[in-house]
Amino acid sequence: MKNSKQFAKVLGMGSYVPEKIVTNDDLSKVVDTSDEWIRTRTGIRERRIAAPDQTTSDLCVCAARKAMENANIGADDIDLILTGTITPDVIFPSTSVFVQTKLGLRNIPCFDYNVACSGLQYGIEIARSLIESQRYKNILLICGDKLSAVTDWQDRSTCVLFGDGAGAIVLSTTENEEENSIIDVLLGANGEHSKLLILPAGGSREPATEKSVKERKHFIKMSGRDLFREAVKIMGNCAQEILDRNGMSANDMDFVVTHQANWRIIDAVRERLDISPEKVCVTIDKYGNTSASSCIIAIDGLIRSGKVIRGSKILTVGFGAGLTWGAAILKF
Ligand code: UT7
Repeated sequence: MKNSKQFAKVLGMGSYVPEKIVTNDDLSKVVDTSDEWIRTRTGIRERRIAAPDQTTSDLCVCAARKAMENANIGADDIDLILTGTITPDVIFPSTSVFVQTKLGLRNIPCFDYNVACSGLQYGIEIARSLIESQRYKNILLICGDKLSAVTDWQDRSTCVLFGDGAGAIVLSTTENEEENSIIDVLLGANGEHSKLLILPAGGSREPATEKSVKERKHFIKMSGRDLFREAVKIMGNCAQEILDRNGMSANDMDFVVTHQANWRIIDAVRERLDISPEKVCVTIDKYGNTSASSCIIAIDGLIRSGKVIRGSKILTVGFGAGLTWGAAILKF
């Protein structure tokens, strides 16, 4: 074991969205909605929907392959997989073990964690701590969800919001503090608000029965207005808190990447942080709300477009079912 302090460095990132595009007009043929309502209330124009036989682990594998390629790292070098998902392939075992097998990785530790849309920020904190413990060198952190599998396609108040996708990051150990990618992470949760966004049945509280299926309890239930209010308040507060405790302002960031749940929420957080729209990354128009992967897909897009260069700083903020929230300041 090494004795000098180790830091966590982002070695490579990748993301994946399924090929199938579903537009707002497509949805208006399924439920009583319109392109105009969806665009003006949410900013969403279209979303990607996975094929029926594509599982969450399949989405995760596609993102992981790209991240490993961009990190220039071989399968044998990964020594732990952690996956943030709320739509695992099955309740158990973890989605991470399916990813391990599909990628042909060694018998390394694999586990999932469930924090919904704050998955990137929680995952970074876990991966960073494991790297700093000096017990793991190269961690494959994945966030992926097939939300279309738990979306009620008869409920217009939710089905227009979600999309499928995955993002992955290879985090690696470095002794060089200059290469440290994770400046700070701040996490929180409040179980008092667990009812605001929930998939009620199928767990130990209410196992699947004919009744639970009839009552459509195996789909996402959401109190949109209450969540909206909490999202604006909590994401604004935790973004400001992490900046304050690092003596930084949002304008010190090259980009701010929030969870992509609603364009109006993203813009309210932007206003609260008092930054120009150019600093804020918006992908919700193309992909809708893809849960934990939304921030990775957005950051990966910035990297692919050449906008993130060596030394760029990104503040990323997540918010989701739990409620959970998190913010991280990253340096590239
Ligand atoms: O990822 C986790 C975090 N998720 C979030 O943070 C989601 C936060 N919430 C939101 O983004 C918004 O609350 C929604 C986009 C879900 C809804 O927007 P809203 O402006 O809060 O609308 P609303 O729920 O207050 O509904 C307004 C009206 C209602 O009609 P009435 O009662 O005023 O006649 C709804 O029935 O819009 C109606 N409505 C729709 N109309 C056309 C709801 N969904 C639709 C729809 N198409 N798809």
